[in-house]
Amino acid sequence: MNEPGDGTRCVHAGLPEPVPGQPFLPGPVFAAPYHLDPWQGPAGAPNGYGRPDNPTRRLLEAAIGELEGGDCRVFASGQAAITGLLLTVLRPGDTVVLPADGYYTVRAFASAALEAIGVRVLLAPTAGPYPSLDGVRLVLLETPANPGLDVVDVAALAERAHAAGALVAVDNTTATPLGQRPLDLGADLVVASGTKALTGHSDLLLGYLATRSPELLEAVTVWRNATGAIPGAFDAWLAHRSLATMDLRLGRQAANAEAVASLLAGRPDVTGLRWPGRPEDPSYAVASAQMRRMPGVLSFDLGDADRVARFVDAARLVVAATSFGGLHTTADRRAQWGDDTSPGFVRLSCGIEDTADLVADIAAALDAAGPAS
Ligand SMILES: Cc1ncc(COP(=O)(O)O)c(C=O)c1O
Repeated sequence: MNEPGDGTRCVHAGLPEPVPGQPFLPGPVFAAPYHLDPWQGPAGAPNGYGRPDNPTRRLLEAAIGELEGGDCRVFASGQAAITGLLLTVLRPGDTVVLPADGYYTVRAFASAALEAIGVRVLLAPTAGPYPSLDGVRLVLLETPANPGLDVVDVAALAERAHAAGALVAVDNTTATPLGQRPLDLGADLVVASGTKALTGHSDLLLGYLATRSPELLEAVTVWRNATGAIPGAFDAWLAHRSLATMDLRLGRQAANAEAVASLLAGRPDVTGLRWPGRPEDPSYAVASAQMRRMPGVLSFDLGDADRVARFVDAARLVVAATSFGGLHTTADRRAQWGDDTSPGFVRLSCGIEDTADLVADIAAALDAAGPAS
């Protein structure tokens, strides 16, 4: 068989070999302790205690690892994975470069917790320019960046960072492993929130880290198991079940984003439209060279907070919610969360509704919202 396509990979990722009489995806294993072999103790079985050991979690890790092209460890949330990475790799006196325009809670954590232990934190905009990387221990990239959707050339940055002796991690939340494979582009680590498009049903929180380095994997595993930042068995099972449809979900989300972007590009009452899949977008050249597919997320400006509220209120298919990548189309006015964005800036996450319905609804809601005051 040729190299399997994305749909095939998603459907089969992490599943055990077929056994007659057994389910395709084994159900969640709910266990804190497991029976131990009285003579051999924990060495006598793969599972001893639920914090380090859970077979449902291991199947999910196998699935995500297959899709990212590395070994994976899952965490209780994206933040647990990212903070786990930062605290595993960084020591007092180290320097870390973080995205100035990426997920804001990472910056908040860095200034609250990393600077307090003597880690120097440098911020760089995703689209650059990047500072000198001499003496830097870790560069965390987020591409496309949330919420502004700038992108960075991961291979070029990884080459620069490695020449300076720095590690490179990529937050792959917005792209997902179907959208880009940072480890293939030269990154040492991938971190991501699986809460978003990876699982896509708006019903769980999840994070993960993937790497091809046995040493980094071991260090992160020790951290994860010692801090207990693990997802529960039911969430791990739900996530694995949801992964199977990622190709289909992302396909519709991207088609919807493309159609909505065309609509918004033609409206004089919408400014600042960003979607990396539009040839006019500043991210297009790098995104189309490095990404395997475009995200379902776009951003734009409606002028002021009131107009955003009127727009969402008038829409039948767009609901106000934070997060993104789910089945339902959602709009989030990012300034309300403290992002450094203008009051009318909206991150719109396209769901899997029918494209024509969504475009018609958004057009009607913009008309109903009227102009900004
Ligand atoms: C790019 C990015 N990284 C990480 C996170 C954190 O993920 P979680 O909310 O699962 O902790 C988010 C959440 O919005 C995000 O957008």
